[in-house]
Amino acid sequence: AAGKVNVSLNPTDSAPVIEPEIYGQFTEHLGRCIYGGIWVGEDSEIPNTRGYRNDVLEAIRELKVPVMRWPGGCFADEYHWMDGIGPREQRPRMVNTNWGGTVEDNSFGTHEFLDLCELTGVEPYISGNVGSGSVEELAKWVEYMTANDGPMAKLRKENGREKPWKLKYLGIGNETWGCGGNMTPEYYSDIYRRYATYCRNFNGNQLYKIGCGADAYNYNWTDVCMKNAGRMMDGISLHYYCVDDWSNKGAAREFDQDGYYWLMGKAFDIDTLIRAHSQIMDKYDPEKRVGLLVDEWGTWWEVEPGTNPGHLYQQNTMRDALVAALSLNVFNSHADRVRMANIAQFANVLQAMLLTKDEFMVKTPTFYVFKSYAAHQGARLVPLTTDAGLMTVRKGRTVPVLTASASVKDGVTTVSLVNVLLDKPQEVVIDLGGIKASKVSGEVLTAADVHDYNDFGQAEKVALKPFSGAKIKNGKVTLTMPAHSIVTLSLN
Ligand code: AHR
Repeated sequence: AAGKVNVSLNPTDSAPVIEPEIYGQFTEHLGRCIYGGIWVGEDSEIPNTRGYRNDVLEAIRELKVPVMRWPGGCFADEYHWMDGIGPREQRPRMVNTNWGGTVEDNSFGTHEFLDLCELTGVEPYISGNVGSGSVEELAKWVEYMTANDGPMAKLRKENGREKPWKLKYLGIGNETWGCGGNMTPEYYSDIYRRYATYCRNFNGNQLYKIGCGADAYNYNWTDVCMKNAGRMMDGISLHYYCVDDWSNKGAAREFDQDGYYWLMGKAFDIDTLIRAHSQIMDKYDPEKRVGLLVDEWGTWWEVEPGTNPGHLYQQNTMRDALVAALSLNVFNSHADRVRMANIAQFANVLQAMLLTKDEFMVKTPTFYVFKSYAAHQGARLVPLTTDAGLMTVRKGRTVPVLTASASVKDGVTTVSLVNVLLDKPQEVVIDLGGIKASKVSGEVLTAADVHDYNDFGQAEKVALKPFSGAKIKNGKVTLTMPAHSIVTLSLN
């Protein structure tokens, strides 16, 4: 029998705006994320615009991608930006030591990344090399990208770009507690302050400087960094991957019910984490000036059989889509502190939006979640409560049987609902809390089987469909959500 969940919306003008950047992406020089996933080069037979795949450009626009983080990840801390400028045939080759020992020819560098952002209206987020670089190297990179005059601007102009680019987001180190230098938080805080001092604002460009934050549950990292360097940060990051056992991560496409519910609990734990890190930040920054940026998150499975273990290529099922939707509901609800999130990663790596094989491209179930949730970008959060019951899953975690988030923009209220229950529809009654609306439309993402995924050469099994099952009457919306489904409603 269908369970029943009541959702109450509590609209208020004092609620925060959901920053579009919460729907951000991450692109690393890892496996086929950049090469083959975004960039094929101008001479490729794959249809492209100045070297970027046309199908991928279209997908970036379809998702309204607000921000892209680049060039890593762990790769960023071994990346020397000067290797990636100038005539492509003269750029040095290097070995990508982090990711499978692949040869990196540096054909996709600063110009290629920033031009991609400009072409698609995406805000760039540069992740600077702190682990193996120097203050001088990063300061000069900022100068190269954003200054009008001076030696770095001259070099940029010689390389064909007259106007500086606009650059807002600058990350100062990635995972400096791990692949980015194995530092202590005390040591990193000092390093951060040095780097932040010399990364200048040129010609009115205003950098938003991001400190490397904690891995998942490392609360001490946030505490020390906020205490020692928080006043020089605009944002601090947080990384959270849904992994059970790093030595045996499990398959993307094969899982049992217990594994499925464990994952839902693990994904929902991001709520606990955000609350705990925010509480620490509140001690040093009660005005919430500093943003918490979840700049890597998502599911991480064993690679697809037969693929390079260093390339992190995995399929993506309806289960992954549910993780995405559930996590985005949590991020929306913490919009007062969470100002950006970048799912890992955009194409062909981990929980990707897109998979490519030669000239073919597949949109994953996760792609469709981001498409459906795009209406929340830049909308004012509508706080809500639900009476959804909590399920206890493996390792003592809990997950509500239904999660939701809502927002309002230009007179349209968007409500996104996630039913994590396998094989059980749920009836939902939404009290609009006084929001005036007389029309409701919607879309649903679900699958006959939660193991379903989209693959090359096959009709899509998981794609958005119109949802006409919601009825609006006397300030309430009622609907029945199919088992393991995501429904987004639009009300006006
Ligand atoms: O996303 C893959 C890797 O995960 C990133 O390079 C690193 O920052 C994290 O450990």
